[in-house]
Amino acid sequence: MEAWWRFGDESYTEAVQRSFLQSYLAAFQRIEGWFSYDAGLMFMAYNQLIRGAGIAGDVLEIGVYHGLSSIAVAALRGPGRKLYAIDLFEELQSNEAYGSGASYRKFFEQNIQSFYASLDFLVTIAQASGQLKAEEFPRTFSFCHVDGGHSSEETFDDLKFASDILLPGGLLALDDYFNPQHPGVCEGAVEFLRRQEGVLKPLAIGFNKVLFQRLPSSLDLNADFSKTFPTVQHLDSTMWKTPVFLFGTPLRSYFDLYASGPERLVPLGAAGTRATFSPEKAKVSAGPGKTFALPVTVKNTSVDTFPGGDRVLGLSYHLLSEQGKPVQHDNARCYLKTALEPGREAKVNLRIDAPPGPGRYQVEIDLVWEGVMWFKDVGNPTCLVELEVS
Ligand SMILES: C[S@@+](CC[C@H](N)C(=O)[O-])C[C@H]1O[C@@H](n2cnc3c(N)ncnc32)[C@H](O)[C@@H]1O
Repeated sequence: MEAWWRFGDESYTEAVQRSFLQSYLAAFQRIEGWFSYDAGLMFMAYNQLIRGAGIAGDVLEIGVYHGLSSIAVAALRGPGRKLYAIDLFEELQSNEAYGSGASYRKFFEQNIQSFYASLDFLVTIAQASGQLKAEEFPRTFSFCHVDGGHSSEETFDDLKFASDILLPGGLLALDDYFNPQHPGVCEGAVEFLRRQEGVLKPLAIGFNKVLFQRLPSSLDLNADFSKTFPTVQHLDSTMWKTPVFLFGTPLRSYFDLYASGPERLVPLGAAGTRATFSPEKAKVSAGPGKTFALPVTVKNTSVDTFPGGDRVLGLSYHLLSEQGKPVQHDNARCYLKTALEPGREAKVNLRIDAPPGPGRYQVEIDLVWEGVMWFKDVGNPTCLVELEVS
């Protein structure tokens, strides 16, 4: 069975390693851009569905800027396929909003490289997208993200170009369709609908993107979506006289970002219980501000060994009020000193710091993988102990 910390083709090499999706989430703190993480998850979810139907080709993005969205789009390509990245870059861009003068092509390449060891799959084209000719490209594309020029002409041309190179059943994401600051996008898209009826079918709206499917296709992707991701909430709406899914709640709240990879999203809790906690007592008491130890048996119920060592896997807790409201999320850790094999148990003395205020509290026991995840955040059950401070 595949270890739950493996993703893509990369194997687990260090004791602490974030998954691709966790590293990508963290990248939003450092990479400039206009993309949202949840748009990336929406792309991945639908791409997983078409991939399941055998559609996995090259991918393309018009308007890459520093590469924030390109990192997600690159992950959607089929095995051995390419990412075509199109942008005016600074050589051609005169728009101050994009920081003309700054070399953002360099940033783009550096940022892509921070996620993908080799850039062999990357084809960068510094050109106005309107000059691209579909005849000069193979018709092998399964995903296109259109996020370049936002005038009606540019939008129309980009939709025409992208839909000409997409495989039947492939996906096209359009940025800013509903953004009142860019009315040209909607205008260009509606013009496309008028002149090219029956080429693009809207599927989903969310996170400032509209996702279309290239017709003809016999796939019912929204029905597949409901079957594959039954816990993900959406509203039903209609666009271009077609039923569409409307996403509002951040998609990250539905998925186990550790067990998931861009090619396969795993719903929260679906990876099963990875660890159980059995405290020696269900009720404890302490003086205000006092520190004490509660022995807890931790059992590894996953199929993989938990790594041992300092600052790797720590037993800890979240302090809650009597009613279950968060009081203090991060608390002292007691690290597993040695690796814990699947099915094995370890007794750990959980250090608890009683809060200064007298009253009743709950201690919610959880495991933290430093820099990677709290087990609770990926759906692992925690364990509650009552704490009386008096
Ligand atoms: C909104 S930014 C893209 C943001 C990026 N996708 C992200 O998620 O961070 C738009 C980009 O499109 C590029 N662009 C604008 N007009 C273009 C055109 N006609 N052809 C190609 N690229 C264009 C700009 O240089 C800019 O980098």
